[in-house]
Amino acid sequence: MTEESSRKNAEMLDRALDCLRRGRFQDAAGRLEKVFDAEPENPAAHHLAGLMHHQRGRAAEARRHLEQAVKGAPDNPEFHLDFGVVLGDLGRADDAIRHYRTALSLAPGTPAALANLGFALGDKGDYAQALDAFGQALSAEPGHIGAQLGFAHILGGLRAGHYSQELETALLRAFGLVHANHARLAAAAAHLLGLKYGLSQAVPGDSDIAPDIAKDALFEAFLTRCVNIDVRMEHFLTGLRRRLVLAAPGSHSADALKAAGLLGVQCFINEYIFFRQADETEAAARIKKRLEEALAAGAGVETLREPALIYAMHGPLGAVRGAGALAGLDSESLGPDLDRLVRLTVRDHLAEAALREKIETSGPITDATSQAVRAQYEENPYPRWLDAPAQQPASLSALLGGMFPHFTPPAFGPTLNILIAGSGTGQHVAHVARTHPQANILAIDLSKASIAYAMRMMEKLGLSNVRFMQADILEAAAIGGAFDMIQSVGVLHHMKDPLRGWRVLAGLLKPGGVFKLGLYSGRGRRHVREARSLIEAEGIESSADGIAAFRHKLLTEKPGGDLARIIETPDFFTTSMCRDLLFHVHEHHTTPKRIKRDLAQLGLEFIGFEQFEEAGINDAYRQAYPGDAALTDLDNWDAFEAAHGGFIDMYLLWCRKPE
Ligand SMILES: C[S@@+](CC[C@H](N)C(=O)[O-])C[C@H]1O[C@@H](n2cnc3c(N)ncnc32)[C@H](O)[C@@H]1O
Repeated sequence: MTEESSRKNAEMLDRALDCLRRGRFQDAAGRLEKVFDAEPENPAAHHLAGLMHHQRGRAAEARRHLEQAVKGAPDNPEFHLDFGVVLGDLGRADDAIRHYRTALSLAPGTPAALANLGFALGDKGDYAQALDAFGQALSAEPGHIGAQLGFAHILGGLRAGHYSQELETALLRAFGLVHANHARLAAAAAHLLGLKYGLSQAVPGDSDIAPDIAKDALFEAFLTRCVNIDVRMEHFLTGLRRRLVLAAPGSHSADALKAAGLLGVQCFINEYIFFRQADETEAAARIKKRLEEALAAGAGVETLREPALIYAMHGPLGAVRGAGALAGLDSESLGPDLDRLVRLTVRDHLAEAALREKIETSGPITDATSQAVRAQYEENPYPRWLDAPAQQPASLSALLGGMFPHFTPPAFGPTLNILIAGSGTGQHVAHVARTHPQANILAIDLSKASIAYAMRMMEKLGLSNVRFMQADILEAAAIGGAFDMIQSVGVLHHMKDPLRGWRVLAGLLKPGGVFKLGLYSGRGRRHVREARSLIEAEGIESSADGIAAFRHKLLTEKPGGDLARIIETPDFFTTSMCRDLLFHVHEHHTTPKRIKRDLAQLGLEFIGFEQFEEAGINDAYRQAYPGDAALTDLDNWDAFEAAHGGFIDMYLLWCRKPE
């Protein structure tokens, strides 16, 4: 090879890389072909071809090229790293780990190699080594998204047998990571705090640990960054709140007020779900009145602080007459605890009220079921969330190829058009917007309260590629447009005729476009049906009081059988989610057989179920149906689900419109 042709190949590779970055796969492939014609073994060309196939979701071809790249340039750490990623996607965890380790021996301390190693070790159940790898990656690059997510993910799954200072330090570190999924840490943190303070025996909250809570950084992070999903912790916190609310005015120590400030945030996040007896409700009403009178009299912040911090455990300060005055005070005079509550329950509320006025609407909502569903979500927007874990941007093809190795994704254009139908308060939207930062996203929902919440959160997260609109899916044809991907999770089953809604959305999908749908499983929601029957039989209303009463009943009666599962569901622990779970105005259930029939009616092709691989369900299915390598036979899935009694309460399924 002459120097001149080497130079030409290098230039051609640069151009191929540029095309790849812009998502122009055909052009990249054409340039790579030219290099291969001149130099079939060129390792850099094989590396790039491997990346290209990986981005297009073609793991087998990616593996072939990356194997060549590693053979041709065994000392290149990047090639080993990328080869490891593809091997991991193909389920070859041990080989992936070997290549990550080689990459690290060639380039010690590389954060990406360490993070990938952490994920692979975590998948194999080697949690200590996984944590170590993530920890090293974070030391090298504190902002590394994958390492932050992985570190918190592994920690969230750990339950110590006894209190461990080391675990506490690690949990605190994870709560401090902005990109981590803090919700994932909730159960582990509650468990460890339970061990630390002896809360494991359903402590009624009358032991005076408020001063300890006030000084405990893990308690503070736990109460203010995630929703508690631990029943014993709930008993304890409910008792603690009761004691703080019933204490005589003026008797609270500074520590007790600090603990109340933290608990107030928890109560705001869980939408005041803790059970309260009448005497506590009356005491809270008196405190609210005292606060309103003090506000009306123009009292200073020192007079307002105690009633505000105590009342905020029972309701949002935004609902207190005259609370606008609190929003006008600066952070320094409010102090950190009251300032945080004023921001969450007054300023954010005012910001949403202003955003609400700006929401585009596609026309009146006339369908009776849509009107009832809308009313529910105007009252309880779903879900209430404070932050969202980061996402690694990824090409849609690579994601699909990674999830469904037997599916060949189409070549999507460089700018995806995405519709999120039933976007709720935007948590799901944020996930999609961060995964596809170049995409144009339209998000529609019935509820303006939900959309306003979502718009505020998009602003907070700096996500500007989403447009929101109030629209009924039934009327969405009027929106027009042709989408590469439509996602509708937890939505269609709330329509009177889900197939009708699905048909409207299918009409908006481009040929070759893909759908992600979340639909309730009839078999998987047997426990919910049982709870709903009980609620109906006892005439319990879907109001906040009704929800609290029903929860109290389950928590004190501790039923067995299917109902016991309800208490283990994270959705049981906030008002909007609990209402969604057990008190929905309208819900349908389906089965794989019915999904097959619906897909046939709509002319769509099934791609697969998203969440079954990690849950180990695919492995069990493969054993039962070795002939269905693509895992797409919905009759088999139906029989499999029936045999296993329902293993998932909502299917996350992907399908496509033929080209
Ligand atoms: C359970 S929430 C799910 C929100 C979001 N997809 C998520 O997973 O977080 C259901 C949402 O669908 C919306 N929804 C229900 N029926 C709808 C319809 N016919 N048209 C538009 N949105 C609808 C509701 O207003 C609600 O915000």
